[in-house]
Amino acid sequence: MNFMAKKRILLGVSGGIAAYKSAELVRRLRTAGAVVRVVMTRSAKEFVTATTLHTLSGEPVWSDWSDDKSGMDHIELARWADRILIAPATADTLARIAHGRADDLLTAICLATEAPLAVAPAMNQAMWNNKATQANVDTLRERGVRVWGPATGEQACGETGPGRMLEPDALVQRLSDSFANGRLAGLKVVITAGPTREPVDPVRYLSNRSSGKMGYAIAQAAHEAGAQVELVSGPVALQAPDGVTLTRVESASDMFRAVMVCLEDCDLFIGAAAVADYRPVEPQARKIKKQAAELLLRLEPAPDILAAVAALKSRPVCIGFAAETENLQEYAQKKRMQKGVEMIVANRVGAGLGFETDDNELWLVWEGGSRWLPKAPKTRLACQLIEQIADLYLKQPSGLKAPEPHAKHSA
Ligand code: PMT
Repeated sequence: MNFMAKKRILLGVSGGIAAYKSAELVRRLRTAGAVVRVVMTRSAKEFVTATTLHTLSGEPVWSDWSDDKSGMDHIELARWADRILIAPATADTLARIAHGRADDLLTAICLATEAPLAVAPAMNQAMWNNKATQANVDTLRERGVRVWGPATGEQACGETGPGRMLEPDALVQRLSDSFANGRLAGLKVVITAGPTREPVDPVRYLSNRSSGKMGYAIAQAAHEAGAQVELVSGPVALQAPDGVTLTRVESASDMFRAVMVCLEDCDLFIGAAAVADYRPVEPQARKIKKQAAELLLRLEPAPDILAAVAALKSRPVCIGFAAETENLQEYAQKKRMQKGVEMIVANRVGAGLGFETDDNELWLVWEGGSRWLPKAPKTRLACQLIEQIADLYLKQPSGLKAPEPHAKHSA
């Protein structure tokens, strides 16, 4: 399975003959759907040009400190990456990372990042077998660095033995597998995403700014966690993540119906959609003509999907969102009670916050606990959210409890 869609891969290229394969690696990563940024060591440029990697990645390429235009690029790149892969990783690069050096851009990024780091060693077999290299590799492994390869075979120097960089296809597969985890294996998850559109007449509707990015990222993360995922989405410009079943809808009523159809055997329901609270009472069959100075639109409550799912007799564990402009924590707690759900995921919304952006910040609250997920790309927050849900859901007895009915009514 391919879990690379929209993943941010920082590819480090160090100076060995296998660097010529990094061009193909970039191409394959992009074909798999990843966004790739390349950081080369100075000696890598002797083997492959920055122009080649820039053209293939469609992103800028960094190498020297002089490329760190803001003086903070190395920190931003360290934060940007979902994974860092150094391929090829020479003996010298392995040694410098093992010793915590930060005297070039690539090693500084490795030191500054919290993203998982993988290396694909490539060197002469004697250099690989040397005790110094083996000790460095052991140190890296102990620190959680994944060491992929090397393969054994004929080498560019004419010798035979271990030291060949794994082929690009194998590295893409390892990266893809690194995003998969089985935390939600065997579970069915239904997720809503995007806005709804409530018709006013055949050409106009009431809607909101939701882009679907948050909900789609959660669908992808749940799929990577091994769940069977059904995504019910309002109108957005996004493609369904691979392996996720998508139902497209327009209005809150459409979404309500589609969710109810998907709920059979559902274990977890996550309502990330920005569903209309109100809709026009009487959508007009014909376009409303401009005539009076004032036009009154009568609205009625739209169906509350989350509350309805939570009120079902036989129901999944329910996770709702709360989009708030103020009093985030207080309103989120109240919303958990009012909707009768196990967890609320709260986010601040407003200019440049929550809606449409690539980044977000979340506050999760459940019975007996809460947690901040600080500002990060929605793709990463989605993985953290799914991890947290899995931790609580799989706990014995489950750490996810719905509020008592009396609490629900008194809120
Ligand atoms: O799509 P993006 O651009 O990435 O933006 C993400 C987001 C801001 C839309 C998302 O993070 C988010 O906050 N989604 C919920 C938005 C919302 O409608 O919040 P609310 O506080 O109004 O609703 C509370 C909960 O009830 C939500 O789970 C909502 O899906 C659900 N609801 C609301 C109204 C309704 N009629 N039916 C519902 O099910």
